[in-house]
Amino acid sequence: MSNIILQVENLSFTYPNRRQALDDISFQIEKGEKVFFHGSNGAGKTTLFQCINGLLKIKQGIVRFNGRIVKSERERMKLISIVFQNAEDQIIAGSVFDEVAFGPINHGLPKEEVVQRAEHALRIMNIEYLRNYPPHFLSYGEKKRVTIASVLSMEQEMIILDEPTAGLDGHQKEELVEILDNLANEGHTLLISTHESDFSLRCADRIIVLEQGKLLAEGKAEELFSRNDILEKASLVKPIIMEVYEKLQEYSYIESDHLPKDIKELSILLHQKFIASKTDSMFFGEPDSISATKQRLE
Ligand SMILES: Nc1ncnc2c1ncn2[C@@H]1O[C@H](COP(=O)(O)OP(=O)(O)OP(=O)(O)O)[C@@H](O)[C@H]1O
Ligand SMILES: [Mg+2]
Repeated sequence: MSNIILQVENLSFTYPNRRQALDDISFQIEKGEKVFFHGSNGAGKTTLFQCINGLLKIKQGIVRFNGRIVKSERERMKLISIVFQNAEDQIIAGSVFDEVAFGPINHGLPKEEVVQRAEHALRIMNIEYLRNYPPHFLSYGEKKRVTIASVLSMEQEMIILDEPTAGLDGHQKEELVEILDNLANEGHTLLISTHESDFSLRCADRIIVLEQGKLLAEGKAEELFSRNDILEKASLVKPIIMEVYEKLQEYSYIESDHLPKDIKELSILLHQKFIASKTDSMFFGEPDSISATKQRLE
């Protein structure tokens, strides 16, 4: 059985004002993958997501889900959930609970299952305490979490998140990373757009880069972020952790060829190096690499 869940083939999209937002895009996604989409403002990420999910009508190109061409927008909407870039565009109900329960009710699920799914989604997003609040009074980050919960309650195989970290504080971003990992571990396939390269380096299985409506590149985060031509063309910023790691390698502080994905991994690497150099200097004096670096910096 094929492991491919989504195939986008030769997809082009032009808005009624004749602005061509997508130009002959093709790619495929495996089940359970976390694929991050990068690209400068206006590159076409939101348009691509809305074509896949059925909010926009496709006139040129094909979307296959589990091997089958899904022409109907309504059917694509049922198969693939989307968390909008702007939470305000998504929220319609009068209370947080009703918002999160809306999807399952709309799918005609029995009341007990609606309640159980909504409660579960509120718990995952840590917003049970907001259940009776009118969503429009919530902060930006809280609204964002409500919209993610309202999509989780649909329990669909594929979830699209359009810039999910935008407007979240550091703590909430950390929580989101954990939530995305859990969703992927539960077998969900996630398509995520972001401008935050450190977020992708840490979480993405694969990255797709769009530029001016075209697919510019795809591959592993560390491969793509080390290519200056792609960074420049797509106005991407190299992840900070990668910048630091490359400088440390340049000054011969570390020889490891394992790129750390976050601060925790980098500090473990530095700690190991520190212990190793301390042990070396006890027996052999200052290691050559450190004296060489000192000389370079003087
Ligand atoms: N409703 C619309 N009508 C006409 N043009 C549109 C419409 N929505 C988007 N566009 C244009 O389509 C192009 C792609 O926009 P899109 O929102 O998909 O980019 P994006 O990659 O999501 O950008 P961002 O990073 O800013 O969210 C842009 O040039 C934009 O101006
Ligand atoms: Mg967008």
